[in-house]
Amino acid sequence: MKRENVVGRANVEDTPELEAYYRALEGEELGALWNVANEIEPWYPQPKSVPTLWAWKRIEPYVRQAADLVSAEKAARRVVMLVNPGRKEWSAAAGLLYTGVQVMNPGEFTSAHRHQASALRFVMEGKGAYTVVDGERMVLGARDFVLTPNGTWHDHGVEADGTQCTWQDGLDIPLMNALDANFYQVHPDVVQKPAALSREHWSKPYSPVFLYKWDECFSQLKKEKVFEYSNPLTGGPVMPTMGARLELIKETKLKRHTGSLIYQVAIGRGWSEVGGERFEWEEKDIFCVPSWAPYRHGAHGEAVLFCFNDIPAMKALSLYREE
Ligand SMILES: [Fe+2]
Repeated sequence: MKRENVVGRANVEDTPELEAYYRALEGEELGALWNVANEIEPWYPQPKSVPTLWAWKRIEPYVRQAADLVSAEKAARRVVMLVNPGRKEWSAAAGLLYTGVQVMNPGEFTSAHRHQASALRFVMEGKGAYTVVDGERMVLGARDFVLTPNGTWHDHGVEADGTQCTWQDGLDIPLMNALDANFYQVHPDVVQKPAALSREHWSKPYSPVFLYKWDECFSQLKKEKVFEYSNPLTGGPVMPTMGARLELIKETKLKRHTGSLIYQVAIGRGWSEVGGERFEWEEKDIFCVPSWAPYRHGAHGEAVLFCFNDIPAMKALSLYREE
């Protein structure tokens, strides 16, 4: 029990009578709130996630090894996950966000499926990668950003004349599981037959644009310093639970807010201070900012960070707070 000597907070001393009482409660699937109240209702968010940096030069050999050890077909999705030491049981990289690096050889593909979790991808490298979302086939290059919103059928692959491709997958799997709302389905066909997707009378809760090409986004970013990937119909986030953006970094001010962030270094080198930890980063490194952790970034020269986050989910539930 975490006792606090503050009016309004639990501060109960253990006695032999109380200990016997607690044991009896346990036997009846009951418990005394005052033993856990200070822990389960903290004064401010107390994420179990810890600030973590996954350096590409450390991840990369394992990603390439996966391509030799396991077939894309048997793995279904051949991904090396980034697991936050404080969130192992949730397979989360931070808070309610999952991320991993997927690797695919020329001619390989994942079979078509769909899930309740929303997904996004930021391409790290390679030529000939493609993704098919609800029948629409899109070709992807380095630093392109693509959505596979919740409930959409999708399969991915690399053309036979392409090169080995890697990309970062970001999903809200831990959020779906925290809400006990997750579903998964495999498509009746191994891969979808490509077909044009109609955008007429679009009423879906996610962006009708699935593919955001790097060159266009980067030229916008140079004008605006922050480029938010957005739903052109609403001006809001690309999907209901997750948002994403590019940030042109020189040096940012210290801030904190509810919601978790996962960053990938798109261009350049620099540093971040997250919850009192300092990380030096370079291209393709990935790091996280847990909810409510104060953070700031700086570049050695100029750098671009790709970021995805669960801020839309926080805002939709009126839980967003910043300072
Ligand atoms: Fe998927």
